[in-house]
Amino acid sequence: MTSHTDHNLALFNRAQAVIPGGVNSPVRAFKAVGGTPRFITRAQGAYMWDANGQRYIDYIGSWGPMILGHGHPAVLEAVQKAALEGFSFGAPTEREVELAEAIIALVPSIEMVRLVSSGTEAGMSAIRLARGATGRNKIIKFEGCYHGHADALLVKAGSGLATFGNATSAGVPAEVVQHTVVLEYNNVAQLEEAFALHGADLACVMIEPIAGNMNFVRASVPFVKRCRELCTQYGALFIFDEVMNGFRVALGGAQSVYARSLPGFEPDLTVMGKVIGGGMPLAAFGGKRAVMEHLAPIGSVYQAGTLSGNPVATACGLATLREISQPGFFDALSASTRSLVDGLSAAAAAAGVPFSTDCEGGMFGFFLLPELPQNYATVMQTNGARFNTLFHGLLDRGVYIAPALYEAGFVSAAHTPQDISETIAIAHDAFKLL
Ligand SMILES: Cc1ncc(COP(=O)(O)O)c(C=O)c1O
Repeated sequence: MTSHTDHNLALFNRAQAVIPGGVNSPVRAFKAVGGTPRFITRAQGAYMWDANGQRYIDYIGSWGPMILGHGHPAVLEAVQKAALEGFSFGAPTEREVELAEAIIALVPSIEMVRLVSSGTEAGMSAIRLARGATGRNKIIKFEGCYHGHADALLVKAGSGLATFGNATSAGVPAEVVQHTVVLEYNNVAQLEEAFALHGADLACVMIEPIAGNMNFVRASVPFVKRCRELCTQYGALFIFDEVMNGFRVALGGAQSVYARSLPGFEPDLTVMGKVIGGGMPLAAFGGKRAVMEHLAPIGSVYQAGTLSGNPVATACGLATLREISQPGFFDALSASTRSLVDGLSAAAAAAGVPFSTDCEGGMFGFFLLPELPQNYATVMQTNGARFNTLFHGLLDRGVYIAPALYEAGFVSAAHTPQDISETIAIAHDAFKLL
């Protein structure tokens, strides 16, 4: 270890003594890529600085929320004003209504919304709601999609469609995951088989439409179409987990992207997080009134939260949504993201490194594979050692991407053409290391 990382290392050592693994969320620990996690001291615009004072161009953006970059003036002003008015009341506020109205105005499939504090909580609540509303227990999820760490969702496929899935975490009883059917992403035949077997017992199908937890894999249009048709036919709810995609790939989320190819397409429920909180702990789930009215206090599905709809978080989210709703915002963000991935492609080609990439709005992914994968098994064929060399090559030179090959990247409105050019120049050097 060079002296260059001393302050980060000292903090990591201190952290490991008092926090399991030294981190409050596992992927931050750099376990997949090795080396010392950077302890961040501050961030502004497209940049973050670590404990050694090194500056990074940030393509993680707090794992998605920071679509305007760090410290956007309008957001800062809204948060500072809200903080002076009070941190938390445990009583309703006008700002919660405003945020709900803003979300509903942007996403046509949502007629009612409930605010919560994390994507995990939103996903877990949406599943309880789907089960309560349909009176059924079984759920379908897809391999490679992450929906937060609720017990019923920490599961991988069993040995066949008629068998139970297996928990992927200790502490999750087999009984808790026995209702979760795990299928291969983008596999229409398997989906049809699962519905034929379990259709009458299915409460919902939950999907990450543009999966960012296996880097960047799109659900194909025919696959989404078939999910929609089968859910409707069997009376199951189709849940889009847009915690990452929502207000990030387009103003109307991934569902608006699919509606371009499937006119009138709508999921029944949508799970949101990240951008709607603008960096504060805020998430939500919403959908049709008839389904949402199953929630307490009017319905029999219980769901609650001390800090739900927190006044400072809602101020941050509202200010963020206001900025991204400006005309041309997503055109500019998409162009910026496209210029980044085109530049990375050219850098890989110049170094003779197999490379494939895709992006939508302010979200991108790339693979050290000649073709874009369609499912999790193919994503995991990426050579981890080569990815790690690239990761550290970029990081050492001041470009911060996610420290794992199965995570998406994010461009913000604060990334200037100069930041993108600087990143591409650095990538030319980093790819040569492979
Ligand atoms: C698609 C998706 N769903 C749910 C979650 C869980 O959200 P949170 O980390 O806020 O609990 C994540 C987090 O990365 C996510 O990417």
